[in-house]
Formats: sequence, structure tokens, C-alpha cells
Amino acid sequence: MVIKTVADVTPAVLSELERIEDPRTREILLAFVRHLHESAREVKLTEAEFHRAIDYVNRLGQFTTEDHNEGMLMSGSLGFSALVCLLNNGNAGQTETTANLLGPFWRMQSPETENGGSIIRSPTPGDPLQATIRLIDHEGKPVAGASVDVWHSSSEGYYENQDPTQAEWNLRGKLISDGEGKIWFWTIKPQGYPIPVNGPVGDLVRVQKRHNMRPAHLHFMAYKPGYKTHISQVYSNDDPYLETDVQFGVTERLIGTYIRHENGPASNPEIEGHWYSLDFDLLMEAGEMTFPKPPITEQADGQRPQIERLKRL
Ligand SMILES: [Fe+2]
Repeated sequence: MVIKTVADVTPAVLSELERIEDPRTREILLAFVRHLHESAREVKLTEAEFHRAIDYVNRLGQFTTEDHNEGMLMSGSLGFSALVCLLNNGNAGQTETTANLLGPFWRMQSPETENGGSIIRSPTPGDPLQATIRLIDHEGKPVAGASVDVWHSSSEGYYENQDPTQAEWNLRGKLISDGEGKIWFWTIKPQGYPIPVNGPVGDLVRVQKRHNMRPAHLHFMAYKPGYKTHISQVYSNDDPYLETDVQFGVTERLIGTYIRHENGPASNPEIEGHWYSLDFDLLMEAGEMTFPKPPITEQADGQRPQIERLKRL
């Protein structure tokens, strides 16, 4: 249609979108355009602001490479990833869930690790941690025989793929749940880390005077045929950034209680002095076992990235 006034623009676009055959694609694009146009009307977007917005979207793409996904980082920084996760888990947002964001550091084919073993594969400073994770279904029954990928950052805040001082696959493993639905392993207590702020996500975080830290967490991905692949993160209860996670990942249900013990455990004579334990239940739902596209495939070359740390002002 030929547009006569400003009031005609949105209906003109919506009527063309109605031509889309696939009903779901049509529904999504109709809603997107309605809200996009409405947001411009609401704030009376100027032409200069419009050009800045276009430049911003373009920069999201320009900053994205094989081992860095600026679009995903932006989605997290706007809480959109957290929203989509919670809309799609816990019986579509109706019940408690332990699902959480995948994050950018999952690698496929983590080394198989026996229960009770260690995922420390090169000397790694930090407080020893024994994590015991129990997989249960919606009736509270154990999920035995599930595979569980675990991965986390070092006590210096780096994943092995970012850090040439760590052995390949350090702080990563794949365990199988026993008859009680449990996996347990030794590692070190993780630390929080900053997200990169050298691109458009950094502009967004700075303009809000936010810090760019994620609180310390362990990552999990549990899978078994008949269950929806369960992606989770368990956060440290003593972390200072729980309330202000730059990616809005922390849910109350996912704050784990890390208990400090003063004397080395009888079960592990290699550990002298203090150590931590974590016991945590993850809730698996019935559904399809699928795998996300691994965000990274290998160790990066070169030096540890020097990521600026912003303060919350
Ligand atoms: Fe992480």
C-alpha cells in the first residue's frame, strides 16, 4: 500500500507479514514489528538516535567471531537469555526449575571422569572442592545413568580454553550418575570473572554504571534419552556479585551452599587443611535429549585475555 501518513506505516508492514505461510514465523515477526514500531512511537525516536541504533546493531555482528558471540552476550546483558530460559523450563515457567544459561564456554567431548575422581588436570591454585550433584525427576526419583558434563573457571577466573597456563580440558569432565542419581568429583572452588566489554555490550554496561562480573559458578549439562537436556549453573553463596550478575543468570534456586571444612577429608588423603563441599540437586524434566551447538571447539592460542574490570558506581 502507498503510505499517506505516519499512521499507515505499521499496518502496511503487518499486512505484508500476514503473507508468511508458516504460522509460527508469522506470529513471531508480527509481534516483533508491532513492538519495534511501538517503541519508536513511545520515545519519539529522532533520526540521529535511529542512526546510532543501526550502527549499534551492526557492531554486534562486527564483534562476533568464531570464538566470541557478542549477540549472545548482549542478550544476556539485557536479561533476554534468562527470560527465554525461564519461559521454556520448569513446565513452561509454572514450576521450580534448575535450568540456566549455557554460557559461551561449553566444549563437547569432555574427558570421562569416574565418580570420586578429580577434574583438575594441571596444577591449579585454589581451595579444594568436592561437589556432589544429584539428578532427580519431577517426582523426586533419582535419574540414574545420565551423562553430566561439568566445566568451570579457575580460581583466577579463566576457562582452560582461554588460558595457556592450564592443561587442555582442565576443570572439565563428563561423569555418569549412579543408582541414586549422583555424580561426585573433586575440583577447586571457582571464582567469578568479567565479561568482555571492548564492544557494544561494554557501551551498554558502562552507560548503566554496572560492573561486568559474573558471580562464581559451576556449569552442568545433564542428558539421558527420555529427558530434556538439562543445562544449569550453580552459584557460590559467598559471592559478592550474586545480586548484580551482569548476565542476570542467578536465580534463588541456583545458589549453592558451599560448606567450609577445616580439616582434610578422610576420603582424600591428598588434601591437607581446609576444603569445601557442595551438595546440590538438579531437576530433570521429561522431554527430548538435544545438544546445543558448542560455542567453542578448541583452546585459543596465545595469551590469557586481559579483560577490563568495571566498577559498579
Ligand atoms: Fe561460566
